[in-house]
Amino acid sequence: MSTLNTRIKDFYDASTPLWLNTWGEQMHHGYYGPDGKRKTEHKQAQIDMIEELLAWGQAPEQVRSFLDAGCGVGGSSRYLALRHPEATGLGVTLSPVQAQNGERYNQEAGVSDRLNIRAQDVYTLEEKHNNSFDLIWSMESAEHMKDKQALMDLFYRLLRPGGKLVMATWCHREEPPALTTNDQKVLDKICELYHLPPLVSVPTLGAAAAQAGFDNLATDDWSAAVEPFWGAVISSGLDPRNWPGLISAGMSTIKGAWAMKYMKEGFSTGAIRYGVLRGTK
Ligand SMILES: C[S@@+](CC[C@H](N)C(=O)[O-])C[C@H]1O[C@@H](n2cnc3c(N)ncnc32)[C@H](O)[C@@H]1O
Repeated sequence: MSTLNTRIKDFYDASTPLWLNTWGEQMHHGYYGPDGKRKTEHKQAQIDMIEELLAWGQAPEQVRSFLDAGCGVGGSSRYLALRHPEATGLGVTLSPVQAQNGERYNQEAGVSDRLNIRAQDVYTLEEKHNNSFDLIWSMESAEHMKDKQALMDLFYRLLRPGGKLVMATWCHREEPPALTTNDQKVLDKICELYHLPPLVSVPTLGAAAAQAGFDNLATDDWSAAVEPFWGAVISSGLDPRNWPGLISAGMSTIKGAWAMKYMKEGFSTGAIRYGVLRGTK
């Protein structure tokens, strides 16, 4: 496993139990209306994010097979499995701790016979999966994946003709004007503490998808819609009831908690952007 992937695996292995205790199975931003002003309970906002992205992404009505690429403990995977009772799903994460928890949740939700969550690097998905998925769901995981062109090429290969890619991912702001020294400093901190390779802009992501062959491509910037989320995560980090879990999760989780301040700063200066993308094979 590459050094980056080992760091990602170790980070999620250590931090997932704490996240599950404080936030639950969804490990992504909430959606608070297009301008971020909607007053929504934060866990509901995470569910709203899934619904909004499925709608904006023009996800197919009929899904027989889906891939959740970078699935965490499979919060979205189960959501999709329950929405599409005929579908089979595969979720992959680098973290065996997430995969074990995901499989347990699958059993509790009664979907373990048709939803498989396993620890595997998405880049290593075998050729037998080529042309097999109606939907590839990529929720806040592509920022961890270094080679965006190889990722888009892979997703294109795995989708059935007519299949849909729907993605939400952390990006940096569009250039020009070039990123400032301060932008770069904040982005470097976020990447270091959350184990991300250098981020790309939303247009760069779109260009990689176009190069891979995707049609009906669209991208958008949902930064305003998600910005309230970090205030809530910081509040949960400041709640003394969560400190024992934070300490026992270890140093990389504590550093991840510290990185929340950079996320808030990055959103307020505009250096970090929340990109969404849809495309059809
Ligand atoms: C912030 S979590 C998001 C989890 C999930 N999508 C959700 O919204 O609840 C990022 C996930 O990406 C996964 N990930 C990162 N790089 C990966 C790779 N190369 N292959 C598979 N999973 C990867 C991590 O293991 C982790 O589960």
